[in-house]
Amino acid sequence: KRLILIGPPGSGKGTQSPIIKDEHCLCHLATGDMLRAAVSAKTPLGIKAKEAMDKGELVSDDLVVGIINEAMKKPSCKKGFILDGFPRTVAQAQKLDEMLERQGVKIDKVLDFAIDDAVLEERISGRWIHPASGRSYHTKFAPPRVPGVDDVSHNNPRSNSVSFINANLVTKNLVTAFPPFSPVTGEPLIQRKDDSAAVLKSRLESFHRQTQPVINYYSKKGIVATLHAEKPLADVTDEVRKVLS
Ligand code: AP5
Ligand code: ZN
Repeated sequence: KRLILIGPPGSGKGTQSPIIKDEHCLCHLATGDMLRAAVSAKTPLGIKAKEAMDKGELVSDDLVVGIINEAMKKPSCKKGFILDGFPRTVAQAQKLDEMLERQGVKIDKVLDFAIDDAVLEERISGRWIHPASGRSYHTKFAPPRVPGVDDVSHNNPRSNSVSFINANLVTKNLVTAFPPFSPVTGEPLIQRKDDSAAVLKSRLESFHRQTQPVINYYSKKGIVATLHAEKPLADVTDEVRKVLS
């Protein structure tokens, strides 16, 4: 399958992607993740992208089309892919169509993560990310769980196992007071530089002005499935599964 995930910042694209990836063996191409990696490695591309990203504006079409063009050459992307955060302008969508036409393939489904703007600030301000894997957690909606510690209340047989993380720091209730750690690797989680209320406003503005028209572009092709992205995480996963089954 070849899928596109479109939705405003915090709508759950990056949260559902790894689940879809695992269940369908697809490659996950997130332009935001790729750009952030380029910024932290200070590559020429990262240096060009940084200013727009810090302001919550879109990076130039040429730059992201170039990244996607390169990424799609990976052998693992030949069977299918999830595009998370691309295309974000009608010009990008047209370029993508040209690329796919050359390969003789087309997009199967566009998942539209529909959600009210009002919900997004809480989603964004509580987000913590594990930089190496890109996994996202949320202080309230998806707290990092410490195996053997958070499981105590559920009478988990492993509840006496020694945790590799300082358990006092990462109990559910204290998670907001400290930078939490990945329950998988124990490494510290970080917050994204553009996850402030002010930058969110500008990201939402560019979503409505530049990306919403992309949904209309694909609606005309009859391949858009609209999700209730404001529902709890597991409910959204169920909706995604129904659409893809
Ligand atoms: P990008 O990284 O794509 O950011 P974004 O589109 O703003 O989206 P987010 O990553 O913030 O949201 P998400 O939907 O993935 O949310 P998540 O699942 O983490 O882009 C960043 C920047 O790069 C752009 O501003 C631009 O500058 C540049 N860029 C990227 N692509 C570009 C392109 N194509 N063209 C030009 N420029 C480009 O969820 C958020 C939080 O909510 C998490 O903490 C999660 O745990 C929680 N959560 C998720 N689902 C639920 C749920 N159902 N209920 C409760 N909580 C939930
Ligand atoms: Zn994301």
